[in-house]
Amino acid sequence: MTDLSDSAKLLIDDKEINLDVYTGVEGERSIDITSLYKDHGLTTYDPSLGNTAICRSSITYIDGERGVLRYRGIPIEQFDRPCPNFIEVAWALIFGRLPDEEELEQFREMLTENELLHEGLKNQFMTLPVDAPPMAILSAMISMMACYHKEFLLLEDEKILMGAAARLISKVRTIAAFTYRRAAGLPFIYPHPGLRYCANFLHMMFSLPYRQFEVSEEMEDALNLLLILHADHEQNCSASAVRVVCSAQANLFASCSAGVNALWGPLHGGANVKVMEMLDGIYRGGYKPEECIEAAKDHNNPFRLFGFGHRVYRNYDPRAKILKTACDRLFAKMKKADPLLDIARKLEELALKDPYFVDRKLYPNVDFYSGILFRAMGIPTNMFTVMFAMGRLPGWIAQWKEQHFADGAKIIRPRQLYVGNPKSNYLEMEKR
Ligand code: ACO
Repeated sequence: MTDLSDSAKLLIDDKEINLDVYTGVEGERSIDITSLYKDHGLTTYDPSLGNTAICRSSITYIDGERGVLRYRGIPIEQFDRPCPNFIEVAWALIFGRLPDEEELEQFREMLTENELLHEGLKNQFMTLPVDAPPMAILSAMISMMACYHKEFLLLEDEKILMGAAARLISKVRTIAAFTYRRAAGLPFIYPHPGLRYCANFLHMMFSLPYRQFEVSEEMEDALNLLLILHADHEQNCSASAVRVVCSAQANLFASCSAGVNALWGPLHGGANVKVMEMLDGIYRGGYKPEECIEAAKDHNNPFRLFGFGHRVYRNYDPRAKILKTACDRLFAKMKKADPLLDIARKLEELALKDPYFVDRKLYPNVDFYSGILFRAMGIPTNMFTVMFAMGRLPGWIAQWKEQHFADGAKIIRPRQLYVGNPKSNYLEMEKR
């Protein structure tokens, strides 16, 4: 619960305006400016919303200064063990608490029952170019689910929402695997009802009709951890896109499709692809780690050190910390090495002692080490952001649900500071 704890005074034109101040459960304070325009004709200027709380949320908590991340109150580090699995985390994010055994089993069954694509949807999928960007395919397919699952366009009941969530989470995995198989010219492998979420995905990705892919425990664990760490991150760019679309009372499929499109951008989820291109570029001898750091510091050069920096974290992203250790664990178990991991470590070492990065508090974010793990599983680089989307889907559904059912929720409609032409007249063509 947020608490009306205090008030703030704004002095403008010799007039004093009293504003309420709310305090969140972790002590963070937020000034309520909702009446400023209505009562005083004033807006607040906050381009890119870096300082604006757009909702009250109880899904995920982040303290960017201290590098803290919690899902439904549970510190993210507690998910870095063999027992928690992505599906129970998904359930907890969407429904507010960890599921009991029966609830988890029931949800798992729903996922299994819904893992196939409607044949009509599959036919639509086959009409898309084989070499289309996987994120474009994913967003189109999620959007098209609205054509095949019209029973989920109105979600006022939690049970129906659970059905929609199960379908989305299950089918997105099938869409992702089919996208890879089709681009690689491989036959589709249908989901195996006896396999868990992550193992089933790896089976659809890598089995052959005459040989079932043996999913190793370490790979399944690594994928499970990756999906959990990507599952939600409060009001990030894609979650906000989902909320904005949802606020117009658009359906869950339309809203999650918008989330996919926002995630695609290289400043957001697309950064995991950029990181891999950067590491690979260094490995192939295109440039040295030191040159990469220098290029990132040069404001005349559009290059950025991808996988570094974050709007909220001014400290090490706790997900990156976990993934760095997970890389060591996976490679030790697989008795393998990846030169790109050494390059990533070198870049991190250089950046963390460089005043440019230190002064700006730029640290590795979730995308810095995730690609190395995806690569170790044999997932191609152009599928990395799709993997991120698979992980983030429960978060989008949770954000959608919270927005949709929020008391007094209104359409999200920001203001602007108009800096265009003052009133002017239309000129006929010959007078221009
Ligand atoms: N490399 C070099 N310089 C950087 C980087 C970077 N990766 N990130 C930020 N900076 C610099 C900026 O140039 C700016 O410098 P200035 O103060 O001299 O102008 C300063 O640090 C502050 O950066 P902003 O751009 O204001 O930070 P913002 O909060 O707007 O952006 C973002 C955050 C987009 C993540 C940024 O750090 C970035 O582009 N990082 C690389 C892309 C990336 O890894 N994205 C994934 C983020 S995590 C996620 O979405 C899953």
